[in-house]
Amino acid sequence: MRVDLAGKVALVTGAARRVGRVIALELAEQGVSILAHYNSSSQSRVRETLQEIKSHGVAAHAVQADLSRAEAVESLMTEAAAQYERLDIVVNSASVFQARNLLDVSLEDWELTMAVNLRAPFLITQRAARVMAENPIPGGVIINICDAGADGPWGKYPHHGISKSALWMLTQVSALSLGPDIRVNAIVPGPVMKSAGRGTTDEEWTKIGQRSVLRKTGSPEDVARAVVYLCSEDHITGELLRINAGEHLR
Ligand SMILES: NC(=O)c1ccc[n+]([C@@H]2O[C@H](COP(=O)([O-])OP(=O)(O)OC[C@H]3O[C@@H](n4cnc5c(N)ncnc54)[C@H](OP(=O)(O)O)[C@@H]3O)[C@@H](O)[C@H]2O)c1
Repeated sequence: MRVDLAGKVALVTGAARRVGRVIALELAEQGVSILAHYNSSSQSRVRETLQEIKSHGVAAHAVQADLSRAEAVESLMTEAAAQYERLDIVVNSASVFQARNLLDVSLEDWELTMAVNLRAPFLITQRAARVMAENPIPGGVIINICDAGADGPWGKYPHHGISKSALWMLTQVSALSLGPDIRVNAIVPGPVMKSAGRGTTDEEWTKIGQRSVLRKTGSPEDVARAVVYLCSEDHITGELLRINAGEHLR
C-alpha cells in the first residue's frame, strides 16, 4: 500500500548539504517535517537549508553532532525527541569517504570510518526504534545510504567499502529484528554528485558515468526520489535499491 507521508517527521543525517540536503528537501516536498542533522557545515549553510525546507510548509530544525563520537549520537537522538513528539523516518546519509590503499589505512582512518558510517547508524537505529515504538501508531522507516561497497570489494576505498558492506548487513539484520512495525531498507547510489574537494573535472565525471550500463551519472534527486519511494511503499523491507544506472552489472 502507498502511505501518505504528509505530517510525518524525519531525521536526516548529513542534511545541511549535498545528497542529504536534497533528500531532506524531497521529503519536505511530501509534507514531512525535518530534523536536519549536520556536523561541520557553516551556520549560514544550515540556515539556508532550513529555509528551503520550510518553504515547503513543514517544520524544520537543525541539530549538530559529530557522529564519530558515540555520546554525540545520544544527544542527537535526545534532541530529536525534544523537537518533535514523534519520529517516523530516519535516513542515515552522513558518511566519511577516504581513498586509501589497503596498507595505508591507519587505525585512525579505520576508526573514524567505522564510527561515522556504521556505528552511528547502528546506535541511531537502536534509539530510533524505541522512539518509533511510542508513535501514535507504532512504527516507522529507516533508510541506510550505502554505495558500491555494499555490492563488492572496491580497491581504492577498502575501509570505506567494508563499512558500507556492513551497513547493508545492518540493514538486513535490523529489518529482520524490527519488523513488523519498522521497515529498514538500503539504497546504493551510483555516482550522483562529484566528491567534494577532489577536483573531478567534467570530462572525468562523464567518463565515470560511461562505466554504467546506461552510460551516465545520476543526480541527488534520483536518490531522494528513491528514499520517498521506500518510505511510501509499505510492503518493502530488508531491500537494497540500486540507483546506479546498472553500474553493478559491469
Ligand atoms: N555523492 C555520490 O555520488 C555518492 C555515491 C554513492 C553513495 N553516496 C552516499 O550518499 C551519502 C551522501 O553522499 P554525499 O556525497 O552527499 O556525502 P559526503 O560528501 O561523502 O559526506 C558528507 C556528509 O556527511 C557528513 N559528515 C561527515 N563526517 C561527519 C561526522 N564526523 N559526523 C557527522 N556527519 C558527518 C557531512 O556533514 P557536514 O558537512 O555538516 O560536516 C556531510 O553532510 C553518503 O552516505 C555516501 O556514501 C554518495
